[in-house]
Amino acid sequence: MTATTPDWVNPLRAADDKRLPQIAGPSGMVIFGVTGDLARRKLLPAIYDLANRGLLPAGFTLVGFGRRTWSKQDFEDYVREAVEAGARTKFREHVWERLAEGAHFVEGNFDEAGFDRLAATLAEMDTTRGTAGNWAFYLSVPPDYFSDVCHQLQRSGLAEAGEDSWRRVIIEKPFGHDQETARELNQVVNAVFPEKAVFRIDHYLGKETVQNILALRFANQLFDPLWNSHYVDHVQITMAEDIGLGGRAGYYDGIGAARDVIQNHLIQLLALIAMEEPVAFEPTELQAEKVKVLRATSPVYPLNKTTARGQYTAGWQGSQPVIGLREEEGFDPESTTETYAACTLQIHSRRWAGVPFYLRTGKRLGRRVTEIAVVFKEAPHQPFTQSQRTSLGQNAVVIRVQPDEGVLMRFGSKVPGSAMEVRDVNMDFSYAEAFTEESPEAYERLILDVLLDEPSLFPTNEEVELSWEILDPILDYWAAQGRPDGYRAGTWGPASADRMLERTGRTWRRP
Ligand code: BG6
Repeated sequence: MTATTPDWVNPLRAADDKRLPQIAGPSGMVIFGVTGDLARRKLLPAIYDLANRGLLPAGFTLVGFGRRTWSKQDFEDYVREAVEAGARTKFREHVWERLAEGAHFVEGNFDEAGFDRLAATLAEMDTTRGTAGNWAFYLSVPPDYFSDVCHQLQRSGLAEAGEDSWRRVIIEKPFGHDQETARELNQVVNAVFPEKAVFRIDHYLGKETVQNILALRFANQLFDPLWNSHYVDHVQITMAEDIGLGGRAGYYDGIGAARDVIQNHLIQLLALIAMEEPVAFEPTELQAEKVKVLRATSPVYPLNKTTARGQYTAGWQGSQPVIGLREEEGFDPESTTETYAACTLQIHSRRWAGVPFYLRTGKRLGRRVTEIAVVFKEAPHQPFTQSQRTSLGQNAVVIRVQPDEGVLMRFGSKVPGSAMEVRDVNMDFSYAEAFTEESPEAYERLILDVLLDEPSLFPTNEEVELSWEILDPILDYWAAQGRPDGYRAGTWGPASADRMLERTGRTWRRP
């Protein structure tokens, strides 16, 4: 039997990506919304970084689509500026020149004429640049346009792959406003592209530390025996940001923290922390386990006690005075959009029965940090007196997603000296210290995965709809409550969030 070497490797299946190349085959990408913030800050730099790492094919072609009347040179200048400002890897003239050769701009609205021009451009590229009919369409546009873009892609024949070529569509969040609208969107997209050609981006899944959750849980013997309701007291999933919303009113007002972050990033983190071991590290097996755990997840009631939300008011971020949300440009001063959201979820399974999962996210909080803390119950019996363990808390495993990526274990240890005193200590694993390789940016990995047809790190339509099903009752409850509480910028959220945990005898970690 001869062993065949695949020309690409799923990072979840083969850890050693140095031995086997993961280079995308002939292909190109069209970005709708190329002049937007996401494309400029993340997508264009990520494409350059992939090119710089030699992971894109020689004839890779980047097509921007938009309303501007740009020449090829204008587009090249724009992309170059974005790359110079945002790329992770060094700027190298010869890499840039090759990428620039394949950069084209097609002017158009989401109407027939624009898409006919696009179709003609792609056909030309297939001949001149060898893209071979393989195109990924990146919808970095507000969801209101998804339907028009999909319809036009279908009408112009662009959605249809040839026998030996592929067409894929990449969709950015927010994927719907609730379960109903997410369903409608899924129907719109799936009427044009088969589900296997749809890649919904949740960039948290592209983060190295998020993928490490699976390695930590399933490659080790150490954690799994404790990973259940017998030993775990509760889980806290935190995504805190210090930035405010200046300049993002158009996107954020009316959406808020829960739809922006909990529905996607945090519920995905919960699924990875709580799911059962997949039969294999195959996309369908991973997705099946995530779906199973999401189906078993629901809010804990009553929602007036188990959720909290807030809106930042003026305060201090470090030594800088900052304004409140309602003073931010573009926000309705009467806006009820929350910038802080916390909720309590439960998982109806043997493993997790009775273990609360606390999720929280907010803007203008104390500092930028994303972490998952699995907090353990106290030992059932203590031979040490209360006074010998005044500084002993609950054991915890904390997965630090960012910054200072790593894993921390908190447990009790004897304080040196003749008295017996037990106190919390931290054992800290840091990516930066343990490995010399730098992690790729989340978008780099995800864009490459689309070109490689590797769907493991992309939520399916079912996952998206289930996440909304979990969140919808909370959103409906909040919608009936009027204005959220205020919290001062630079603090850790509204007092109601503290009360939410205090009621259960617990406190939030101060990361
Ligand atoms: C995005 C949200 O999905 O994630 C933003 O829309 C948020 O509001 C961003 O700022 C944070 O991403 P990261 O990777 O910086 O944690």
